[in-house]
Amino acid sequence: MTVASSEPTVRVRAPGKINLFLEVGPLQGDGYHQLATAFQAVSLYEDVVATASDDFTMSVAGSIDVSGVPVDETNLALRAARLLAAETGYSGGVHLDVFKEVPVAGGMGGGSADAAAALVACDTLWGTRLGSAELHRLAARLGADVPFALKGGTAIGTGRGDELSPALARGRFDWVLVVNEEGLSTPEVYAALDRHRDRHRVDISPARTLPEVDAGVLHALRAGDPAMLAEALRNDLQVAALGLRPDLAETLELGESSGALAGLVSGSGPTVAFLAASPEAAVELHDMLDASGRDVLLAHGPVKGARVIS
Ligand code: C5P
Repeated sequence: MTVASSEPTVRVRAPGKINLFLEVGPLQGDGYHQLATAFQAVSLYEDVVATASDDFTMSVAGSIDVSGVPVDETNLALRAARLLAAETGYSGGVHLDVFKEVPVAGGMGGGSADAAAALVACDTLWGTRLGSAELHRLAARLGADVPFALKGGTAIGTGRGDELSPALARGRFDWVLVVNEEGLSTPEVYAALDRHRDRHRVDISPARTLPEVDAGVLHALRAGDPAMLAEALRNDLQVAALGLRPDLAETLELGESSGALAGLVSGSGPTVAFLAASPEAAVELHDMLDASGRDVLLAHGPVKGARVIS
């Protein structure tokens, strides 16, 4: 029997993301790399339900394997709630129920979406009503991808990826995602890229140029043209992710020879994202990859950022 709760509750939904383009610049003194990226929010969602409480607690469930997700103080959603309380002087707490669709440690910003959703949910539940600029500032303190999960849509990220400007995008892009059982750690993938560049003496010194999103990406987005976008997809972290997970190369080849316009590792991986020409082509590709025994999901973008839902 379900007992209706008398506690006030707020539900917020935030999207996962794909980096359509990711140029990684030099490692900086703060341990982050300067980068230029094009984010697209896609239709895999994290739902966070915030319920009034005296303490800070959480639970996690999902349509995907959530066994690797911590529910202690290290969880980014709980850290987001605590940060908001500390910044606003709110003296109570919250219980967060997180329901996940975005692959865990998959390079699609699931943890960042949880943090963005928790910020919006607690801000609404507690009536602290921070403006969007303040929420963005707190989001950036939690992680480089958290501001984009707040904003959603399509955006260009510079700095650590947290300095956002909107990108004009038309139409809908259809994606087929191959999920891996075992996630990859983002810091490890960045470190593997640094080692790779050292070994191959790749010159990414700041004196050269600032990382920049190719004009071809912006053009394809404005045109709403998946074939054009496929030509412009790029991820500098891919070489590092493939070094750590050589089997991903086979997945990329299979997708590209099975009708995808193009494929790339999403963010720091190991999720592989294939761009399809249409919703129908995406379903066809999904079924072919599924038949090969892989774990496959469909998604489309762009979709909205973190928002309260009833
Ligand atoms: O900000 P976030 O916690 O998502 O970043 C995780 C890690 O990824 C950082 O600690 C850093 O090692 C790496 N990173 C980076 N440069 C960026 C973003 C992330 O080196 N621009």
